[in-house]
Amino acid sequence: MTKILVLHGPNLNLLGSRETDVYGTVTLEGINRDLESLARELGVALTIHQSNGEGELVEWIQKANGQFEALVINPGAYTHTSIALRDAVAGVGIPTVEVHLSNIYRREEFRQHSYVAGVALGQISGFGPDSYTLGLRAALAHLRAQRAVPKK
Ligand code: DQA
Repeated sequence: MTKILVLHGPNLNLLGSRETDVYGTVTLEGINRDLESLARELGVALTIHQSNGEGELVEWIQKANGQFEALVINPGAYTHTSIALRDAVAGVGIPTVEVHLSNIYRREEFRQHSYVAGVALGQISGFGPDSYTLGLRAALAHLRAQRAVPKK
Protein backbone atom coordinates (compact mmCIF):
# COMPACT_ATOMS: atom_id res chain seq x y z
CA MET A 1 0.00 0.00 0.00
CA THR A 2 1.23 3.51 -0.82
CA LYS A 3 2.47 5.21 2.35
CA ILE A 4 2.23 8.98 2.69
CA LEU A 5 3.51 11.13 5.54
CA VAL A 6 1.52 14.19 6.64
CA LEU A 7 3.31 16.80 8.75
CA HIS A 8 1.71 19.75 10.50
CA GLY A 9 4.04 22.48 11.69
CA PRO A 10 3.94 24.93 14.60
CA ASN A 11 0.71 26.25 16.09
CA LEU A 12 -1.48 24.06 13.91
CA ASN A 13 -2.38 22.16 17.08
CA LEU A 14 -4.27 25.33 18.03
CA LEU A 15 -6.60 25.15 15.02
CA GLY A 16 -10.21 25.53 16.06
CA SER A 17 -9.49 28.36 18.47
CA ARG A 18 -6.55 30.11 16.80
CA GLU A 19 -7.29 33.23 14.67
CA THR A 20 -10.59 31.76 13.55
CA ASP A 21 -11.17 34.69 11.19
CA VAL A 22 -8.15 33.45 9.19
CA TYR A 23 -8.14 29.70 9.77
CA GLY A 24 -11.80 28.90 10.53
CA THR A 25 -13.04 26.72 13.34
CA VAL A 26 -12.04 23.27 12.16
CA THR A 27 -9.67 21.52 14.56
CA LEU A 28 -6.53 19.60 13.67
CA GLU A 29 -8.35 16.42 14.72
CA GLY A 30 -11.10 17.30 12.22
CA ILE A 31 -8.55 17.80 9.44
CA ASN A 32 -6.86 14.52 10.29
CA ARG A 33 -10.21 12.70 10.35
CA ASP A 34 -11.02 13.99 6.84
CA LEU A 35 -7.57 12.99 5.62
CA GLU A 36 -7.90 9.49 7.07
CA SER A 37 -11.30 9.02 5.51
CA LEU A 38 -10.00 10.16 2.07
CA ALA A 39 -6.96 7.92 2.48
CA ARG A 40 -9.25 4.91 3.06
CA GLU A 41 -11.20 5.82 -0.07
CA LEU A 42 -8.00 6.17 -2.12
CA GLY A 43 -6.37 3.08 -0.65
CA VAL A 44 -3.33 4.80 0.84
CA ALA A 45 -1.87 4.58 4.35
CA LEU A 46 -1.19 7.80 6.22
CA THR A 47 1.11 8.62 9.11
CA ILE A 48 0.35 12.01 10.61
CA HIS A 49 2.45 14.11 13.02
CA GLN A 50 2.28 17.65 14.37
CA SER A 51 5.20 19.45 15.93
CA ASN A 52 6.00 22.93 17.15
CA GLY A 53 9.71 22.19 16.79
CA GLU A 54 11.72 22.78 13.64
CA GLY A 55 14.27 20.10 14.56
CA GLU A 56 11.58 17.49 15.14
CA LEU A 57 10.04 18.21 11.73
CA VAL A 58 13.50 17.89 10.14
CA GLU A 59 13.95 14.51 11.91
CA TRP A 60 10.62 13.20 10.62
CA ILE A 61 11.46 14.28 7.07
CA GLN A 62 14.86 12.57 7.29
CA LYS A 63 13.30 9.38 8.66
CA ALA A 64 10.72 9.42 5.86
CA ASN A 65 13.46 8.50 3.43
CA GLY A 66 12.72 4.99 2.19
CA GLN A 67 9.64 4.74 4.47
CA PHE A 68 7.15 6.96 2.67
CA GLU A 69 6.53 7.60 -1.00
CA ALA A 70 5.35 11.19 -0.57
CA LEU A 71 5.08 13.99 1.97
CA VAL A 72 2.21 16.43 2.47
CA ILE A 73 3.36 19.25 4.73
CA ASN A 74 1.97 22.44 6.19
CA PRO A 75 5.17 23.94 7.58
CA GLY A 76 3.24 26.75 9.32
CA ALA A 77 5.45 29.76 10.06
CA TYR A 78 8.58 27.70 9.25
CA THR A 79 7.47 28.03 5.63
CA HIS A 80 8.80 31.57 5.69
CA THR A 81 11.90 31.08 7.84
CA SER A 82 13.31 27.59 7.59
CA ILE A 83 16.17 26.78 5.26
CA ALA A 84 16.60 23.64 7.40
CA LEU A 85 13.18 22.31 6.39
CA ARG A 86 13.86 23.12 2.75
CA ASP A 87 17.21 21.34 2.92
CA ALA A 88 15.60 18.30 4.58
CA VAL A 89 13.01 18.01 1.80
CA ALA A 90 15.66 18.50 -0.88
CA GLY A 91 18.05 16.16 0.90
CA VAL A 92 15.74 13.16 1.04
CA GLY A 93 14.26 13.94 -2.37
CA ILE A 94 10.81 12.78 -1.29
CA PRO A 95 8.01 14.12 -3.53
CA THR A 96 6.45 16.88 -1.42
CA VAL A 97 3.24 18.85 -1.59
CA GLU A 98 3.19 22.04 0.47
CA VAL A 99 -0.22 23.04 1.81
CA HIS A 100 -1.64 26.07 3.60
CA LEU A 101 -5.10 26.71 4.93
CA SER A 102 -4.88 30.42 4.12
CA ASN A 103 -3.80 31.95 0.82
CA ILE A 104 -0.35 33.11 1.90
CA TYR A 105 -0.11 35.42 -1.13
CA ARG A 106 -3.08 37.48 0.06
CA ARG A 107 -1.58 38.04 3.49
CA GLU A 108 1.30 40.00 5.02
CA GLU A 109 4.37 40.40 2.84
CA PHE A 110 6.52 38.23 5.14
CA ARG A 111 4.20 35.28 4.43
CA GLN A 112 4.48 35.63 0.68
CA HIS A 113 7.78 33.79 0.42
CA SER A 114 8.12 30.07 1.01
CA TYR A 115 11.50 28.38 1.43
CA VAL A 116 9.84 25.01 0.88
CA ALA A 117 8.05 25.82 -2.38
CA GLY A 118 11.24 25.69 -4.45
CA VAL A 119 11.85 22.05 -3.54
CA ALA A 120 8.19 20.92 -3.51
CA LEU A 121 6.22 19.40 -6.38
CA GLY A 122 3.77 22.22 -5.85
CA GLN A 123 1.81 24.21 -3.33
CA ILE A 124 -1.88 24.37 -2.45
CA SER A 125 -2.77 27.51 -0.55
CA GLY A 126 -6.04 29.11 0.42
CA PHE A 127 -8.67 26.38 0.47
CA GLY A 128 -8.97 25.97 4.23
CA PRO A 129 -9.03 22.34 5.38
CA ASP A 130 -9.59 21.28 1.75
CA SER A 131 -5.99 22.31 1.04
CA TYR A 132 -4.95 19.12 2.86
CA THR A 133 -7.28 16.76 1.01
CA LEU A 134 -6.36 18.43 -2.30
CA GLY A 135 -2.70 18.04 -1.30
CA LEU A 136 -3.17 14.34 -0.63
CA ARG A 137 -4.90 13.90 -3.99
CA ALA A 138 -2.09 15.81 -5.72
CA ALA A 139 0.60 13.67 -4.09
CA LEU A 140 -1.16 10.47 -5.10
CA ALA A 141 -1.81 11.69 -8.65
CA HIS A 142 1.90 12.44 -8.97
CA LEU A 143 2.89 8.97 -7.74
CA ARG A 144 0.40 7.28 -10.06
CA ALA A 145 1.55 9.34 -13.07
CA GLN A 146 5.16 8.45 -12.29
CA ARG A 147 4.36 4.74 -12.18
CA ALA A 148 2.38 4.93 -15.41
CA VAL A 149 5.35 6.36 -17.29
CA PRO A 150 7.95 3.70 -17.98
CA LYS A 151 11.53 4.67 -17.08
CA LYS A 152 13.89 5.15 -20.04
C1 DQA B 1 -0.22 28.66 7.44
C2 DQA B 1 0.24 30.04 6.96
C3 DQA B 1 1.48 30.50 7.72
O1 DQA B 1 1.85 31.80 7.29
C4 DQA B 1 1.21 30.57 9.19
O2 DQA B 1 2.39 30.90 9.91
C5 DQA B 1 0.61 29.30 9.72
C6 DQA B 1 -0.43 28.63 8.93
C7 DQA B 1 -1.54 28.22 6.77
O3 DQA B 1 -1.86 27.05 6.85
O4 DQA B 1 -2.26 29.07 6.22
O5 DQA B 1 0.90 28.88 10.83
O6 DQA B 1 0.77 27.71 7.08
